[in-house]
Parts: sequence; structure tokens; C-alpha cells
Amino acid sequence: MSSSTAHGRDARGRRPPSPLEQIAELLAEPADVPAEPSTGYLDLLGRRAGPAPTLAQRVMQSTFLPRIYERVWRPVGFNIAKGWPFGPDTAEEHALARDWLGLGQPGDAGPAATVLDVACGPGNVTRALAAGVAENGLVVGLDASRTMLAEAVAQPTPAPGRAAIGYVRGNAVDLPFRDGCFDAVCCFGALYLFDDPWAALDAMTRVLKPGGRLVILTSRRPDLPLSRAGGELVRAVVGMRMFGDREITRALIDRGLTGIRQRRYPLMQLVGARRAGPGAG
Ligand SMILES: C[S@@+](CC[C@H](N)C(=O)[O-])C[C@H]1O[C@@H](n2cnc3c(N)ncnc32)[C@H](O)[C@@H]1O
Repeated sequence: MSSSTAHGRDARGRRPPSPLEQIAELLAEPADVPAEPSTGYLDLLGRRAGPAPTLAQRVMQSTFLPRIYERVWRPVGFNIAKGWPFGPDTAEEHALARDWLGLGQPGDAGPAATVLDVACGPGNVTRALAAGVAENGLVVGLDASRTMLAEAVAQPTPAPGRAAIGYVRGNAVDLPFRDGCFDAVCCFGALYLFDDPWAALDAMTRVLKPGGRLVILTSRRPDLPLSRAGGELVRAVVGMRMFGDREITRALIDRGLTGIRQRRYPLMQLVGARRAGPGAG
């Protein structure tokens, strides 16, 4: 239960830390964190170069895509890739993410967990994760795109009784957080865009607490003649990787993760795992 009063102050009249002040406690390097920056998010990239400017990354940084992403691009593109009407729709996908991460479902109390949503875009999955986390938890959305984050911070805050959300501009390949500080890490619809997805998996594993859970929704290269050549062409032209059926699961095993699970869809795969340690079964 929260110790703050109806006016947001605790019994001694102190203001509870803002989500960005809570995020400051999770950073590997101390940073000057304003409680309410003008952008609404904590910018840890500043003028530093973001991800390599492939065609796909340029689209993610545009002003147009974030505006239509959640209502049009995401449901249409992803549902086709997941094999709609046989694959999970967006609501089922969110429920699976919460379940595989050990979070609650809307209406349940849910744990007061600390959750990271890597490459959060306009915060669509971030908000779905917060719906399964109790009030004293924290959900952090990280993305490199200013335009995506501007959409994310413009969305309504979580329902009363649900975890606070805070957004960070940073690079998924080199996460700015301390080792072992998250109970759960989610990375949906983005691993295939990263210039070094293997370094991103290292970073996601590093920031998980022992026993913490990871879930990834990424591309899948169907096991068909010429699909490897087709995948290389997509990568060269668009800058998107198509991962083989065993590439991600093997990479997680190599990083010492356990309890690997996978669901395969026509052009996507959902992969879950746990970092060994207390609570990992
Ligand atoms: C297709 S959106 C995914 C949004 C959301 N996770 C979802 O599942 O709908 C991909 C996001 O990855 C972000 N991204 C790509 N490379 C990144 C990187 N190296 N670091 C942080 N974010 C990155 C893009 O800016 C974009 O917002």
C-alpha cells in the first residue's frame, strides 16, 4: 500500500519521489535528474549519436510514424506478422507479456515490481505492463526516439492503484541502469532494429535481478527455401534482421538464462526466460 496521502504527500508532508527521481536511483552513472523536465522524459542520450541511421530507424525517428503507430501501424503490421486471426491480437499479446513476466492482470493486485520496457516506442506496451503492476511498483520505458517518447509522455497516466511510469531516452544496446535492478524486462518489436542485438541481450540480462524474467517479441525467419537470402535482403535494404527459430533461444541459454519458452508465429516469435537465482524455477 502507498504511504502517501490523498494529496500525494506522506504523513510528514514530504512529496513522494517522481517517477524520474525513482529512475535516478536505478542509473549506473549518477545523472542530474529534474523532477519534471520540459520534455517529460529523462534524456540520457542528449546530442550523442543514437542508433545507426538505417531506413527502419529513420522511420522510427520521424514525426509521422509515432502519430499513427499505436492505432494503425502496430495492430495491422504486427497482427499480420503474428498470423492473425490465428495468432494473438494486441490484447492477448499484452496478457501473455504480463503472464510470462510474472506480473498481474488488470483487476488483480499484481506485484509491486520494477519493470523495464526496452524500446518502448509511444509507450503502448509500457502502459499494458503497468496495468499488471501494483501502485508501489515502477515501470520504466526506454527508447532512443524523441518523437516516439513525445507521444509516450502525452498519454494518460496509469489508473489509480497502478504503478507509476517514467520514460528515458537511451540506447537499448548499452542500457544505462545498474546491474540487477529490474524484476522484469520486456523488449517487444525492436530487437530486429538494433545494430547489435547480442549486446542488447547482454545488457537486458545484466539489469535483471537474479530470478527476474525477460520476454522478447521479435522477428522470425520462416524455415523455408530462400528465406535466409530473403532475410539478408531485408536487412540490407531496410535494416531489419529476421531471426532464425533457434537464434534467440540459444543466445539466452548462452547468457545463462533458464526456463526458456518460445511461441512461433509466421513472421514473429515470443521468447521468455529467467535469470537464474532465487524464485527462478
Ligand atoms: C516498432 S517500435 C516498438 C514499440 C513497442 N515496443 C511495441 O512493441 O509496439 C521500435 C522502437 O525501437 C526503438 N529503438 C530502435 N533502436 C533502438 C535503440 N538502439 N535503443 C533504444 N530504442 C531503439 C525505436 O525508436 C522505436 O520506438
